[in-house]
Amino acid sequence: MAEQKATNVTWHAHNITREDRQKLNGHRGAVLWFTGLSGCGKSTIANAVDQLLHERGVHTFVLDGDNIRMGLNKNLGFTPEDRTENIRRIGEVSKLFADAATIVSTAFISPYKADRDLVRALLPQGEFIEIMVQASLETCESRDPKGLYKKARAGEIKNFTGISAPYEAPENPELVLDSDNKGIEALAREVIAYLTTKGILPA
Ligand code: ADX
Repeated sequence: MAEQKATNVTWHAHNITREDRQKLNGHRGAVLWFTGLSGCGKSTIANAVDQLLHERGVHTFVLDGDNIRMGLNKNLGFTPEDRTENIRRIGEVSKLFADAATIVSTAFISPYKADRDLVRALLPQGEFIEIMVQASLETCESRDPKGLYKKARAGEIKNFTGISAPYEAPENPELVLDSDNKGIEALAREVIAYLTTKGILPA
């Protein structure tokens, strides 16, 4: 848990509430938290979902591992401590998006269960939707879209998830997407169906 360092700070309530924003946008906010190995399809599926939602007039955004690591989190690497801080910051940013009645899709390996659970605890019931993108290490390694598994096997990248660093799969995710056997479009539709069933999207 991150330490509260600042003292003499007071929470200021906003004039416009999250309910006001939900009313204006016509839907609730939510965090679609995609988790899984590098190369499992998180970013691609998140972007496909984002596109489907956008086409329906939903207010959305995507936060993606590699992009965020070039900006907000450029001072973080891949030690367990840095990954924890990476996910903590993304969790806080995601909460702001959900407060703004936006559906934010996040695509981070987020290998530690405790880090994901901390993000879940930040959000109101039902607004944190943990989506396990299931693909075997063999599948991810054979795709190797960025050539990173090859480098990790050669010892050129240390602490690489799945090879030399752990991945803790979710125990009770809201959704499991079978990326070993199904295509991006079908998986994106499964996410939309879930959001509709849960009343986050109108039927
Ligand atoms: S996380 O573990 O902190 O959640 P994040 O999703 O932000 O990771 O970043 C993962 C991306 O960084 C991978 O898709 C890959 O492109 C790149 N990367 C570079 N080094 C590593 C590493 N040691 N382990 C995993 N991914 C790495």
